[in-house]
Amino acid sequence: MKKETTGALILLLIAVFLSGCGLTPPTRDEALQELAPQLAQGQAAAVESTAVVKAAAIEATAIINAAAVEATAIANAGQTEIDAAAPEVPTPAPEAPVPDAAAGEALFRQQTIGANPGCNTCHSLEPDKVIVGPSLAGIAPNAAGDAESAGISVEEMLTEMIVDPNAEVVQGFQPDIMPQDWGAELSATQLSDIIAYLMTLQ
Ligand code: HEC
Repeated sequence: MKKETTGALILLLIAVFLSGCGLTPPTRDEALQELAPQLAQGQAAAVESTAVVKAAAIEATAIINAAAVEATAIANAGQTEIDAAAPEVPTPAPEAPVPDAAAGEALFRQQTIGANPGCNTCHSLEPDKVIVGPSLAGIAPNAAGDAESAGISVEEMLTEMIVDPNAEVVQGFQPDIMPQDWGAELSATQLSDIIAYLMTLQ
């Protein structure tokens, strides 16, 4: 026999022997099959660790939330305490218009007010001087006397004299000469301004 043939024969024999012993190298599929349990275990471990991380995150969030709630509660309690300790600030009363006598005088001197002639068209401020209506010199003390017997304030008396002149016509004068609609022609502010001005006519 040739040398090469002998070598090949020996190799063949070795191969046959090895395959007989089941020592052939495993195929890829066989290897995967063999590794399957380990793979499954690894996957299970991965799933488990993800779950642990998630649970930890949830717990951490819960702790942070609880701390935030507590901090808010503490801050609120502190604010309440501060509020309680702070001195009462009086709530300002809704602004009532402050009667303005100067504005009232300017209005009194207007030629016309709305559709009506102005007050000083008919009323002089010189004592006893009659234009169309009586002089309004000293109207404040005059009205004060009437107010006292009527049991109302001087301002209320003057309001009545202006918005309802026919209620008590001044002696020696005719009714319906003084416009009867001042309540409609004058705003509440204008009326209180005019009254503030009449209160200065002592
Ligand atoms: C067209 C003329 C006329 C005008 C304008 C007029 N009045 Fe008269 N007023 C009279 C006459 C007339 C009387 C008296 C008769 C009466 O009591 O109604 C009178 C009476 C009064 C009285 C009562 C006086 C008293 O002694 O008791 C007051 C107050 C008064 N007027 C204020 C005003 C004011 C304020 C205005 C303007 C907003 C005004 N009047 C505009 C004609 C007028």
